[in-house]
Amino acid sequence: MKIYIDKIKRRLLLWWLSKMKNPAANKIANAIYASIKKDLNKQEQQWVECIENLRSELQENQKQVSITDYGAGQSDSTYSDEEMYEGKVHTTTVAEICRTSSKRDIWALILFKLVREFQPNICLELGTSLGFSAAYQAAAQRINNHGQVITLEGAQALVALSQQNFTKLKLDNISVVGGKFQDTLSAAIDQANQPIDYAFIDGHHDKEATLRYFEILLPKLADKALVIFDDINWSEGMRIAWHKIVTHEQIKLSIDLNAIGICMLDSELKGKLNLRIPF
Ligand SMILES: C[S@@+](CC[C@H](N)C(=O)[O-])C[C@H]1O[C@@H](n2cnc3c(N)ncnc32)[C@H](O)[C@@H]1O
Repeated sequence: MKIYIDKIKRRLLLWWLSKMKNPAANKIANAIYASIKKDLNKQEQQWVECIENLRSELQENQKQVSITDYGAGQSDSTYSDEEMYEGKVHTTTVAEICRTSSKRDIWALILFKLVREFQPNICLELGTSLGFSAAYQAAAQRINNHGQVITLEGAQALVALSQQNFTKLKLDNISVVGGKFQDTLSAAIDQANQPIDYAFIDGHHDKEATLRYFEILLPKLADKALVIFDDINWSEGMRIAWHKIVTHEQIKLSIDLNAIGICMLDSELKGKLNLRIPF
């Protein structure tokens, strides 16, 4: 029953967003709606198939990889900043990484459709892993005929694997920056050499770290920039971080989709809209 009610609520909220006198809200609604409906043109469909074929291949890949994780660990971990900076080494397989840390299905499509709708010049991503979300965003930019992805990853093994994956997909509009976000974010923003009009934060799900990255990004964002945060409800700390972000005076529009949160700057907008769409 709850699933049914949520579905109706979702449809109504998306319809309302699509009718608002706010082009950004309309574009976000279109992107989400098209992703739910899997409404893709032929070129979009071809890219999605290509990326998903690679995913199917990697899901069977039992090659062992040693990963240093600089993130927050589990949702109830209490690592200090020093411990996270030091990192935790563990051995896993490509298949397991593919299964546990890559954006898939509706979420990957939403990123793809947002890039199609907003046509950003730069997609700055924190957290590459095997490169699936970067590939979706870069493929959308290829269809847009402009734009590049700059994606940051701490684990060296994943930097190498993601680069192999981008080569396989013939996506040459992605640059992978290896190193901890703490050390690489500011330089990556400078590398973009223009205001950042789109960012996807999908790594280091720690409250303080997420807020720090947001503060570093904020002065470098274009007006009307779109910033997407992953796992906003993953832990108490991430819920607090998301709340602080959406109540920031420069954020004029925010949409909580449970797994991800989308927010937008827009100095021309007078009011503020914080919305939760059930997913
Ligand atoms: C959830 S995964 C990213 C998934 C990817 N965006 C996708 O959907 O295909 C998060 C990645 O962020 C990286 N990461 C986490 N904390 C980091 C930090 N402080 N510095 C650099 N990389 C970090 C991890 O190594 C991991 O590969």
